[in-house]
Amino acid sequence: MPAERLHVLRTIRTAVFPAAGLGTRFLPATKVIPKEMLPLVDKPIIQYGVEEAVAAGIEHVVLVTGQGKRAIEDHFAVDTNLQRLLKARGRTDLLAEIQSLPRPTSVTTVQQGEPLGLGHAVLVARKLVSDEAFAVVLSDDVIDANPPAVRQLISVYEKLGDPVVAVERMPADQINNYGVVSAEPVADEDGVYRIRGMVEKPSKEDAPSDLAIIGRYILTPDIFPILDSITCNAGDEIQLTDGLQRLLAHRPIYACEIDGVRHDTGSKIGFLRATAYFALKRPDLSEAFREYLRTLGTATPTGD
Ligand code: UTP
Repeated sequence: MPAERLHVLRTIRTAVFPAAGLGTRFLPATKVIPKEMLPLVDKPIIQYGVEEAVAAGIEHVVLVTGQGKRAIEDHFAVDTNLQRLLKARGRTDLLAEIQSLPRPTSVTTVQQGEPLGLGHAVLVARKLVSDEAFAVVLSDDVIDANPPAVRQLISVYEKLGDPVVAVERMPADQINNYGVVSAEPVADEDGVYRIRGMVEKPSKEDAPSDLAIIGRYILTPDIFPILDSITCNAGDEIQLTDGLQRLLAHRPIYACEIDGVRHDTGSKIGFLRATAYFALKRPDLSEAFREYLRTLGTATPTGD
């Protein structure tokens, strides 16, 4: 088959956004508002992920949402009322801003009845993904990268044709929060590794490497029957890492070290860091915000 045709076949058009987790670390904020809708400066967390996906060439977004997550779906719908109001009030600046938001060709939502784990969230997207390889974006990992993180993974997939997971080198004291791969470098591919095994949340003594899996994946449809076959005891979750570990018996899986800055906004400290990071990148805010941070120094604000 000519290389050009192969390239077309391997292009990734769909990204699945699992967003049905309970977000317990942000209670009570997440009692009514999904954590994906918490803003970093003035954009909801999930919008950073969708913009990244669109910039990477993704056309179809599949949102996997849960109970009480209607706001996510609404956020990506075109709000003609709001647009009419802004126009009537002469707020053409805001109107232009809203209309210029990068949009995928389609946004579809599917409900995960119960939050039975990330593997289960991916499985419920099965019917909407059809028979093509697809990306998975965990939007709580906000990644500032050029090319976008999803694009970096797609490039590896286009060359190698097998699933790819994003990894980051993690300090030993944090490795127990992640899935960790044992892997060896792929010749002539900088930052790309062939995975030999994976463990979910190992102790630092048991971690096979410092390469931790972060929230971006390129998966192939053969992951679905595997996820479907994983049975769990009550209270257990279907882990995506378990599915990938089983898939590894049938085909190669690669890891790609992402070149960029990642914030884990699913944790409070990660959320705060991301807020500061993106505020400092904003030309309209950076100076005033930097000045404010300077006045804080290391002192604890007293409110006086
Ligand atoms: P997390 O491990 O961060 O869990 O999920 P969580 O429930 O969202 O948050 P905490 O730990 O209670 O604070 C990682 C990603 O997987 C999705 C989440 O929405 C998040 O994007 N997820 C997790 C699902 O979509 N469904 C699930 O059943 C579990």
